[in-house]
Amino acid sequence: MSFHFIITTFILQYIILIESKLDPCPISWRLPCPLPPWPSTYNMQLSTQYYFYSSEGFYDNATVAFAALHGVVGIDWANHYGLPMHREETLAQQAAIIKSVNPQTRVFVYRQSELALNIFDNGAKVMYDPSKTNWFVLLPNGTIYNDSTKVGNYRMDQFCWDHRNPDVQDYFVNSYVASAFNQSVVDGIFYDDDGGIWDERQNYPNYTEEYRKSVDAAQQVSLNRAWELGLKYKKHAWQAWLSPTIPTSDDKPAVCAEKMRTAMSMKNVPVTFPAMYNGACDHPWEECKDLKQQLAAFLIARGDYWLFFTPNTWWKEGFEADYGEPL
Ligand SMILES: *[C@@H]1O[C@H](CO)[C@@H](O)[C@H](O)[C@H]1NC(C)=O
Ligand SMILES: *[C@@H]1O[C@H](CO)[C@@H](O)[C@H](O)[C@H]1NC(C)=O
Ligand SMILES: *[C@@H]1O[C@H](CO)[C@@H](O)[C@H](O)[C@H]1NC(C)=O
Ligand SMILES: *[C@@H]1O[C@H](CO)[C@@H](O)[C@H](O)[C@H]1NC(C)=O
Ligand SMILES: *[C@@H]1O[C@H](CO)[C@@H](O)[C@H](O)[C@H]1NC(C)=O
Repeated sequence: MSFHFIITTFILQYIILIESKLDPCPISWRLPCPLPPWPSTYNMQLSTQYYFYSSEGFYDNATVAFAALHGVVGIDWANHYGLPMHREETLAQQAAIIKSVNPQTRVFVYRQSELALNIFDNGAKVMYDPSKTNWFVLLPNGTIYNDSTKVGNYRMDQFCWDHRNPDVQDYFVNSYVASAFNQSVVDGIFYDDDGGIWDERQNYPNYTEEYRKSVDAAQQVSLNRAWELGLKYKKHAWQAWLSPTIPTSDDKPAVCAEKMRTAMSMKNVPVTFPAMYNGACDHPWEECKDLKQQLAAFLIARGDYWLFFTPNTWWKEGFEADYGEPL
């Protein structure tokens, strides 16, 4: 977990490698290509997507108004970071605030899949229970691995779930994750760190490769179970949307054509475009110089459940126009 996301390079590389023979669900915990449990749309505004980061309290009114312009939004753990607990509730309350402005906006909330965090009541309830030490990844001397950090003026402990423990899997799926599924204002979950626990953990001792792999594999099983449960509740996973590499103005025509062919081969797969992690227009110096081209490419390539990941300002003429279905 972090305040910003890194590009999920391995997805991008996978897509480049296989080009037009795309296997729609290349991540192991994805179910066989589940489509979102709602009707597809070619309404451009409902096809926009954005992810919202930190805020000491709930987002201010301008941010909420911006969120409510979108079709699909995600809310990060760092929403309402001023409060060291009750994140299940505050995320759902933030979702309700956005939906009260626009009931059509679909809201995804954050759940952490590798770390147990005390900012979630579901985490705090089990993290300090001495009978549950074996629920977490341990240091060689038997104490709990703890990447504790400071957020504002409180301590956020970060333990790693040991998903190999069946009790952990059940709790992760039926309590922690389910606490989002049974909220009517929540449309789905953004599962952070679904790639495994070792990427961002700087202080780990030298666990064996076998140990790491078995913990990671068990996490994938938990995630798969969580997704299955979500479908029963008609909720979805943010990770259902794939990100192809997209043409940029620096590409030579042949490279551009190849990227477009790859994107178009993904018509039957939920795709987010330009890419939900690339932050193409996040920084002022990037000036979103390719925005018009990216939207044009999106409209040419798009399929039923595609989403256009917007920059951090709204482009009314581009995003509210009715383009209809591409011919
Ligand atoms: C924000 O919106 C709420 C609900 O519409 C309203 O009560 C409040 O006064 C607004 N706050 C500001 C600072 O405009
Ligand atoms: C266990 O190991 C960790 C990491 O090497 C160390 O920081 C901690 O003090 C140790 N705890 C005990 C009780 O030995
Ligand atoms: C986690 O780390 C913090 C900061 O070092 C420490 O205060 C806390 O006691 C630790 N908790 C556990 C259960 O290891
Ligand atoms: C939602 O699920 C959680 C965890 O299973 C449960 O504690 C809570 O009571 C449920 N809330 C509702 C409104 O059903
Ligand atoms: C982990 O392995 C590295 C490289 O082999 C070594 O330098 C380091 O001391 C080891 N750390 C621990 C905590 O054993």
